Amino acid sequence: MRSVNIAIDGPSGAGKSTLARAVAEKYGLIYLDTGAMYRAAAYFALENGVDPEDEKAVKALLPGLDMRIAYKDGVQQIYISGENVTPYLRLPHMSKAASDISAHPAVRLKLVEIQREFAATHNVVLDGRDIGTFVLPDASCKIYLTADPEVRARRRTDELIERGTPEPYEKVLEDMKRRDHNDSHRAFAPAVQAKDAVLIDTTHMTVPEVVARVGELIKEREA
Ligand code: DC
Repeated sequence: MRSVNIAIDGPSGAGKSTLARAVAEKYGLIYLDTGAMYRAAAYFALENGVDPEDEKAVKALLPGLDMRIAYKDGVQQIYISGENVTPYLRLPHMSKAASDISAHPAVRLKLVEIQREFAATHNVVLDGRDIGTFVLPDASCKIYLTADPEVRARRRTDELIERGTPEPYEKVLEDMKRRDHNDSHRAFAPAVQAKDAVLIDTTHMTVPEVVARVGELIKEREA
């Protein structure tokens, strides 16, 4: 039987991971956070003294990149060469590093292979930037989640306060705009809405409203 694949793409702060977690729980799916995989690749580069922007040096490191995904109490963990690197992935400096390393085609091809293999063998909801356009063009349900940059930056600022690593709103907004631009203008598999994805603007929506809307879409696709 073909596995269920739900693709959620969109810029950071649109609410992708919150939505993906809720959908996973409601429909008994596994949630694969693909952004965390790019963050883990960036962590690997930095640990090896390599600038994530340096394509040649990053490419040379890739054969040694051993990345495994596991779940502990239902929460995704990423292991690099046997070490659980999950606690480091959301540190503020990792966002830019992940965006920089994600621009290199060799990195994307390696991680996309893991993502496709995972989706082929599990019922899964994935969030990222290129899931509907490139990773799983045949996903059963594709959603493109967005929100005004100011609202996304406010959400991210609150999240950073909650994590104990606060940053000023203005800096978060500026970094977010720069990262959005990087992610949507890279040459290979840029972050864009798939033609057959349903656009949901969460600027004025609550989380339960977004989850309910996606529930309707999933039902429509099943019918
Ligand atoms: O969703 P996130 O902030 O954790 O993602 C970190 C970076 O990884 C983001 O700036 C773009 C990149 N990314 C990507 O290029 N493709 C994906 N499928 C997921 C993330």
